[in-house]
Amino acid sequence: MGVAVPDTYVELADLAMARGVAPGKYVEGLGVTRMGVPLVDEDTVTLASRAARMALESAGCSPEDVGLLVVGTETAVDHSKPVASYVQGLLGLPTRCRIFETKHACYGGTAALQMALDWVRSGSAKGRKALIVCSDIARYGVGTPGEPTQGAGAVAMLVSDTPALLALEAGKTGVYSKDVMDFWRPLYSKDALVDGHYSVQCYLDALEGAYRAYQEAAAEPVGEGAYSDRFAALVYHVPYGKMSRKAHRHLRTLDGDAAPDASFDRLVGNSLVLPSQVGNIYTGSMYLALASLLSTAPQDLTGQRVGLFSYGSGSCAEFFSGVVQAGAQERVKALGLQARLSRRRALSIPEYEDVMRAREHLDERPAADAAGSGFRYQGTRDHKRIYAT
Ligand code: CAA
Repeated sequence: MGVAVPDTYVELADLAMARGVAPGKYVEGLGVTRMGVPLVDEDTVTLASRAARMALESAGCSPEDVGLLVVGTETAVDHSKPVASYVQGLLGLPTRCRIFETKHACYGGTAALQMALDWVRSGSAKGRKALIVCSDIARYGVGTPGEPTQGAGAVAMLVSDTPALLALEAGKTGVYSKDVMDFWRPLYSKDALVDGHYSVQCYLDALEGAYRAYQEAAAEPVGEGAYSDRFAALVYHVPYGKMSRKAHRHLRTLDGDAAPDASFDRLVGNSLVLPSQVGNIYTGSMYLALASLLSTAPQDLTGQRVGLFSYGSGSCAEFFSGVVQAGAQERVKALGLQARLSRRRALSIPEYEDVMRAREHLDERPAADAAGSGFRYQGTRDHKRIYAT
């Protein structure tokens, strides 16, 4: 696994004051303390590439080991050329590699992951690995209710038949999809549009449908107590931390738990440590929550089962599960994610608003002459995006 976030962020308490809102509404009410805000040399490609490089390095893999690269994103940089092609070029992945991009709001990365699992299980991988990258920059209009639920980041995962972090359980998955208009981004707009409170209800309906479908698919013997106590932890899609709390309350109510909040800290708390400092990263949000769980849970999770819930507006959702592998927590801790977050720089609100304005025209920005380095977006030349490696 690899994770990339912007080097800069906005403190939600500062944003609240600038908008004339009580800081408690964003920090406690939404459960977010900071949101990542990328500067103009960062885009979906650079975040994806940085996360992918970290995943390869962390697993001790060479680009040559990859036979399938899929980038899940809802904030792509081109109507035709996939983010995956840029990532292939920047990372030097082999030409004998199937590459493409998937889109289904925040579910796009999970769609790619499930497809990669089938690719591995079918034997098509022939010893090669799939590289799945979820990369997005969540952007709502300045001053809208969605503004405090922005964020940016990427999570990359290598998928193979020798899992080092999580062994995803074949057949144990439940899907729920429904045509709804809860969150969308018209082709002419850089900002997402959302029917906020309706989107929360759509998420909860989808959770219920996917959880029920999972239980039917898993077909496990009826046991005592709440069904979700079969999991050592639950990782929900996290547009903002409070949504995970609402999700957990709903799921435990479905389980017949009369005190549905009582298990929240035990089953969910650790998964929200990193997301609360990054904000919504759309496709990668649930996987950042998984990284958070594996790097912050104080107890040994080896051999224990984790439940995962992915939700993409529009909508498609999936509840699935995996078993934590020996050494997984040490591996994710070694990525030093919390230390990376601590090294970021805070933007003042005027700086943030300047960045938001500048980002509106990024696709036409002439490429800077000075050569940068480290996967940075430089602008365009002859309508082609230029990246520094
Ligand atoms: N102190 C503490 N809490 C406070 C407070 C204060 N001073 N003032 C308000 N609050 C609480 C409210 O009680 C509320 O909590 P509950 O939900 O538990 O009641 C919370 O703060 C938020 O308040 P509002 O509901 O009044 O906030 P809002 O109407 O301004 O907007 C939102 C909230 C609808 C989530 C909005 O931020 C939004 O539209 N966000 C984008 C959409 C989104 O993330 N939807 C999630 C489901 S869809 C999905 O998951 C896909 C995806 O990634 C987008």
